[in-house]
Amino acid sequence: MASIRDYIAQALPEGVTVEVANLRSIAKESSALTIPLPGYRDNLDKTIKVEHFIVLSCGRKTFFAIQVYVFLTVKNSTVVERLFYISKADTNGYCTQEIGISRLTKAILTYLLALNPLCYLSSVKPLRRNLGCKEELITKETSCRQALRIMANRILTGKATHPKIESSQAFLSYDEMSNDLRTKICLFTRPEPQYLFPNSSLNSKKHLLNGEQLLSWWLTIIDEIIIADFERDSLRAKLKLPGEDLKLVHKILERRHCEAWQEGDIFEPSQSNLAVLSFPVFPDDPKSRFLEALIEENRATDVNREEFWAELQGRQEFRLGVTVSVIGICGKTKKRLLYPIADETIEASSRSGMESLKSFITGEQYDTDEGASDAYMNLTDFLQIGRQRAQLSVIGQLKTASCRNQVKRPAAVVANVLDTNLVRRKKPKRAMPASQI
Ligand SMILES: CC(C)(COP(=O)(O)OP(=O)(O)OC[C@H]1O[C@@H](n2cnc3c(N)ncnc32)[C@H](O)[C@@H]1OP(=O)(O)O)[C@@H](O)C(=O)NCCC(=O)NCCS
Repeated sequence: MASIRDYIAQALPEGVTVEVANLRSIAKESSALTIPLPGYRDNLDKTIKVEHFIVLSCGRKTFFAIQVYVFLTVKNSTVVERLFYISKADTNGYCTQEIGISRLTKAILTYLLALNPLCYLSSVKPLRRNLGCKEELITKETSCRQALRIMANRILTGKATHPKIESSQAFLSYDEMSNDLRTKICLFTRPEPQYLFPNSSLNSKKHLLNGEQLLSWWLTIIDEIIIADFERDSLRAKLKLPGEDLKLVHKILERRHCEAWQEGDIFEPSQSNLAVLSFPVFPDDPKSRFLEALIEENRATDVNREEFWAELQGRQEFRLGVTVSVIGICGKTKKRLLYPIADETIEASSRSGMESLKSFITGEQYDTDEGASDAYMNLTDFLQIGRQRAQLSVIGQLKTASCRNQVKRPAAVVANVLDTNLVRRKKPKRAMPASQI
């Protein structure tokens, strides 16, 4: 069994206690990762999406969160690929202990990599369900007028129609995994003053990395992960720095321990060199926004991969004079994959349930430490009332002699001056009742 507690304990200085909330969405069948184009072969593989949102607190204050999506590809009922898309990682500066965030991030990713993908697949929500007697049900597709008619009818007849889902249709399940399971890790590095903790950039103690520092930070984490966890044969480790000189990219890659690093990306075209058929669409990802723009502008069949990268440099998110990069790894992992310890995960049974759980964190304001305390209390109260449990308490085991971040840090300096207007401010949402999450 894989325990997130053990992985995090190894990354925390000895004796330091943190509390962990390992939030996870139910697995859901989703559309294919690449956009289908008329006239091209349909992708018959199934894509299944799971979201992890892992939150750490220390001294009753939330201080770090990371959001990772896992996309599983199922071919003829067998899982053949898992792709980890690291969407966001953020701190807020309210941790009073000297905790190395890169070490924590690496530990969390290593834990996720250690999980057997079948652990997500015993009950997968299908893309569509046949609800039976559809005309009497109110669904996402029901118009307002129709919904009112249905409700009026219910009052008149005194009975409501309930969806009739065949048990075989309610959830899909898979229990076969290929011996040649491919593992991919993808991320887009771009520094922002804040991603998950609104207004946390106003805390002068928050430590920000600029574009180059962030690139090096992520490359070090991913480099250490591939050395420890990936088989060397057939490993591809790629870095793309849109708009940057190739010599610079090679110089950056020379400093890595793994010699497989190369300039480029891991998304080799399957049917054609068209960008839209090559690159996956990830949630909240600038590359994906550009792919969607190509469809809207009717240019999907005009732009190939090379043109895509060239044009991407001109888009606002890449034009700010900040180093941004796309990192991709593809290979086979070495270690035996394990099932997670069940009570270490907090699973949301629906998409809105997951949004509600995340809003406990992302709905607070972090200009003062009150936001960090409130986020901690939101999670604690929800778990106590809704699930009769507590956050996982983890005590660090890393000997300080080997802890690089033990050096006394000077007061944080805001390293990068970025346009804070680019960060979308979320209004605090009202969370769903605990029983519905
Ligand atoms: C990216 C981020 C999570 C990294 O957090 P972090 O606290 O800087 O990470 P680490 O603890 O690993 O520290 C990195 C380095 O900065 C140093 N450092 C950390 N806090 C410091 C501080 N307050 N003052 C000076 N140096 C500090 C560490 O010692 C370490 O140096 P080393 O590599 O020489 O050991 C953080 O910068 C952040 O929240 N940024 C805003 C959101 C963002 O841009 N996310 C990126 C998503 S792609």
